[in-house]
Amino acid sequence: MKRSFFYMGWIAFMAIASLLLWKFFPINLTSTTPAVDSKLMIEAGSKLDEPIQPIPLEIRLDERKVALGGRLFHDARLSRDNTINCATCHNLSQGGVDRLSHSKGMNGELGDVNAPTVYNSGLNFKQFWDGRAETLEEQVNGPTHNSKEMASDWPQIIKKLKEDKDYVTSFDQLYPDGITDQNIRESIAVFEKGLNTPDSRFDRYLRGDVNAITQDEKEGYRFFKDLGCVVCHQGVNVGGNMFQTLGKFGNYFEDRGDVKKSDWGRFNVTGSEKDRYKFKVPSLRNVEFTAPYFHDGSQTSLEDAVETMAKYQLGRTLSNEETDAIVKFLKSLSGEYQGTSLGGSSS
Ligand code: HEC
Ligand code: HEC
Repeated sequence: MKRSFFYMGWIAFMAIASLLLWKFFPINLTSTTPAVDSKLMIEAGSKLDEPIQPIPLEIRLDERKVALGGRLFHDARLSRDNTINCATCHNLSQGGVDRLSHSKGMNGELGDVNAPTVYNSGLNFKQFWDGRAETLEEQVNGPTHNSKEMASDWPQIIKKLKEDKDYVTSFDQLYPDGITDQNIRESIAVFEKGLNTPDSRFDRYLRGDVNAITQDEKEGYRFFKDLGCVVCHQGVNVGGNMFQTLGKFGNYFEDRGDVKKSDWGRFNVTGSEKDRYKFKVPSLRNVEFTAPYFHDGSQTSLEDAVETMAKYQLGRTLSNEETDAIVKFLKSLSGEYQGTSLGGSSS
């Protein structure tokens, strides 16, 4: 009884908190595409009052910057020994991830956490598991300088890019000051903002196409809402708009063992005790293609990830029927990039 009071109180609190969040960070929902709101209303009966919103179908970006940023994203000269590019760990034909529990950087060095996908990253309110980068532009400073990733620095990168005539020309056409670290970051970020994956079957359902998802998937969505997953995984990105403690019920870290600094999450950014073990709630879009799961890459199957969430975030044990339906619902969130599905080879 006491626990159910606590539970309901907590849901109410989260509902209010998310409303406030939407009020103060409306940018997540609309900023990238102010001109396409009308596109959301393609059919009568659109479900626009749901806790999840569809990804806008169009986004206006400077295509020349998208092209330049895409080249940089795939250019190993951003790493010190020219062996690693962004796509090494964010493979765009494999859901934007490396499918490793911990990424491999220069000289095979293993990173501290699992690589999240770059798809739809522009829809997240902050970047990285602990939110230490406010923007995509700022995020680029991370991998380029991290000794376990690209292990380089701006003077080296700029020097290498200036030796390439094509880059000099492209940057000069787009930026009055040519090749600078700021312009490199900006063009990569523009490319990444174009990595949205609209038009998933679930988004078509939200837009009013009631047959876009199956009965099982509808059931899964109902569980997802009724159980309370949606309290944390919500908005356009089905996540990516708040920090939450991993282990609201039970002690995830004690059960897993071997706690490391990277498990402290948001605490590493703020130094505030209340932020220990808090992480950015990840987006669940395209989650069928982004295993292994969690910041520690500890879960390889989506079923296990869902059950772990129910246990540690909601204090619930799911029936097989609930788990299966939720997994089916989650798979209906897979979208398209440039008209093709994201799964690549393993789908
Ligand atoms: C060696 C592997 C590796 C390379 C190379 C790499 N990344 Fe990442 N990326 C990661 C990991 C691991 C994280 C998560 C780190 C964290 O949260 O502390 C990450 C996080 C991100 C995020 C944040 C996503 C989110 O939801 O928080 C973005 C965006 C991103 N990388 C883009 C890039 C770009 C752009 C480059 C190239 C300049 C790049 N990455 C190079 C492994 C890599
Ligand atoms: C209290 C907030 C909260 C609730 C409720 C919640 N989650 Fe999560 N979810 C998180 C956080 C935080 C993470 C990231 C955990 C980590 O690795 O640090 C996460 C991660 C996940 C992941 C892994 C995603 C990835 O890319 O690694 C899946 C899948 C997931 N949640 C599904 C669910 C489902 C299904 C439910 C309901 C049964 C649910 N979550 C309920 C906060 C929540």
